Amino acid sequence: MSALPAKPCRRVLVTGASGRIGRFLVPALIDASYEVSALDIVAPQQPDPRARSLVADMTNREEFRRLLVGHDAVIHLAANPLAQEWSEVEPANITGAVSVLETAGELGLDKVIFASSIHVCGYATLGDHFHANTPVRPDGPYGVSKAFGEAVARYVHERFGPSVFVLRIGTCRARPLTIRERTTWISPADLVRLVRACLSPTAKGYRMLWAFSANRHAHVDRSEWGAIGYQPSDDAENYLDELTDPESGTVAEGRIGGRFIKAARKQGEDS
Ligand SMILES: NC(=O)c1ccc[n+]([C@@H]2O[C@H](COP(=O)([O-])OP(=O)(O)OC[C@H]3O[C@@H](n4cnc5c(N)ncnc54)[C@H](O)[C@@H]3O)[C@@H](O)[C@H]2O)c1
Repeated sequence: MSALPAKPCRRVLVTGASGRIGRFLVPALIDASYEVSALDIVAPQQPDPRARSLVADMTNREEFRRLLVGHDAVIHLAANPLAQEWSEVEPANITGAVSVLETAGELGLDKVIFASSIHVCGYATLGDHFHANTPVRPDGPYGVSKAFGEAVARYVHERFGPSVFVLRIGTCRARPLTIRERTTWISPADLVRLVRACLSPTAKGYRMLWAFSANRHAHVDRSEWGAIGYQPSDDAENYLDELTDPESGTVAEGRIGGRFIKAARKQGEDS
């Protein structure tokens, strides 16, 4: 039996579009000729007039479903990335992930991209080899909530069949700042490259990908990047002279989770 021709994915909805990543990803996708709906609970400060701006709460499942109809792919960025307490991971990282990911499956979208995080494996050490089966070792409520989102994304792939790309995003900023980021840094341009690779017709199935730049110092299974055509071009090593080491001598030293790694609480100690 011959394989079906791959369908182009042109109509894309980005959740969390007003956030740090959404603000550069939305225009970059439009520049690449995608039709983009930019959804956020907060209106964008400088909306791209070429995007369809949707101000909505993704946890309102009925409304979100109505807004998602007609799209080929969803890029799920919306979350509370600063959640340090269990009470804070709800509703965005749990209810929001279920609402967005399961609705995408139910509506029969072709592709789902889920913004996960290295904090799913925060206790891994910086020298580890990072690959699709790196064990989950979350470093707190935020990392646990992203592991939950990864599980929902996998379930949606199995049950409803869209291609699903889980991106364990490292530290996304214009340039790396710390020694830890020799491993974890991803430049905005490389993150755009990675998302575009996921949206390309040849990228299919279920994939868990480490979202890093081409950092010489990082031990990542690059064959997994090659399989979807992701070719990063930045390298944290080019900034080595400028990097500081705030984690030196702390419990976070050498751990991929950095400052999210906290010293163990002793019994009876207040938070
Ligand atoms: N920036 C990084 O370096 C980095 C690293 C690892 C993972 N990530 C993940 O990537 C994603 C985007 O990160 P970011 O830095 O742009 O985060 P951000 O906090 O800047 O943006 C998140 C956006 O989600 C929106 N949002 C929250 N709750 C919502 C709701 N109920 N409905 C609709 N929108 C809602 C917020 O208003 C915000 O604009 C997050 O899931 C984050 O966990 C980011």
